[in-house]
Amino acid sequence: MKSYFRKEIDAIAGYTPGEQPKVANLIKLNTNENPYPPSPQVIKVLRDFDPARLRRYPDPTADALRDIFASAVGMKRENVIIGNGSDDLLTMIFRAFTSPELPVAVFEPTYSLYPVLAAMQGAPVIKINLDTGSFSYPADSVQQAKNANLLIITRPNAPTGNCAEKELVKNICAGFDGIVLIDEAYSDFADDNCAEFAAEFDNVLVMRTFSKGSSMAGLRLGYAFGSKILIDGLMKLKDSYNVDMLSQELAKANFLDAAYRKECVAKIISERENLTAKLTGIGFKVIPSQANFLFAAPPDGDGAGAFQALRDEAVIVRYFPGEVTGKYLRITIGTPEENARLFQVLEKRFCK
Ligand SMILES: Cc1ncc(COP(=O)(O)O)c(C=O)c1O
Repeated sequence: MKSYFRKEIDAIAGYTPGEQPKVANLIKLNTNENPYPPSPQVIKVLRDFDPARLRRYPDPTADALRDIFASAVGMKRENVIIGNGSDDLLTMIFRAFTSPELPVAVFEPTYSLYPVLAAMQGAPVIKINLDTGSFSYPADSVQQAKNANLLIITRPNAPTGNCAEKELVKNICAGFDGIVLIDEAYSDFADDNCAEFAAEFDNVLVMRTFSKGSSMAGLRLGYAFGSKILIDGLMKLKDSYNVDMLSQELAKANFLDAAYRKECVAKIISERENLTAKLTGIGFKVIPSQANFLFAAPPDGDGAGAFQALRDEAVIVRYFPGEVTGKYLRITIGTPEENARLFQVLEKRFCK
């Protein structure tokens, strides 16, 4: 049959999400999920939820959530939009700000969904290379991105785990003639964040997710905040009821239990530092991480080999082929027991 798809859709392979294997007893350290469950408050809301309420549509704009997220960053409801995961918000953002005439600039390497969304729009991608050794950010980023309409800074970056210097991010926000999206999917694990730039600059959006620090990847909830003019524009692109009623309620209960979330995050950060030291001790090059994962190159620089060795022992991590990324593994920080098992396999392989 001849293809009836738009040529942009025929041209792309589509995004490949990290594997979600169904095998029991597997150690799953490949998609940066949180190893700890969400707040006990979530269980309470689930237990008390009256299913009869599902007859009705949810609040289309999730205003109760917008209010609590807004107040957490010193903004107003009008400054916040809710998404069915932050990938949903990314789809809206690419539809809003990119086209064949409106390129997007991204750093390389970064979250591999961005180029796929650009391709769907037929939008050119301007790649700004990070330093191939340290993954630090070039000082002339604004200059390199000058022909783009949208520039994405992932902070902390995925898959490398490091953060662009805050001063550089501020300079980009002030100097870039286009929209700056700061994707803060992993900011719960970082020393600082860039929330204030969303209030300071009209062209800046900051985006967060419940999938990492909040232990709710299965729920699908994200939010973005920025100037009213940007949020109003994105609202036009949103599916009418993009976040279901139960997700709205569970997310609210979880978000309000900040003490519990902080406790889980602290455990992950402590394990991150512990695993960094142990892997460094057996000759790995580990990029100092501000996220809930490590980007770590085995001593022989053979990321694919180490990936397979772990897989053979039922430990799944993420491997990104490529001249620079192919030397590394991306390892999600799990529970102490999971991390110990991962380390045991790698120690056996590299300490003969
Ligand atoms: C940098 C980055 N942004 C966004 C997302 C998407 O998160 P969500 O689960 O909210 O769609 C991910 C998921 O891995 C990510 O790594």
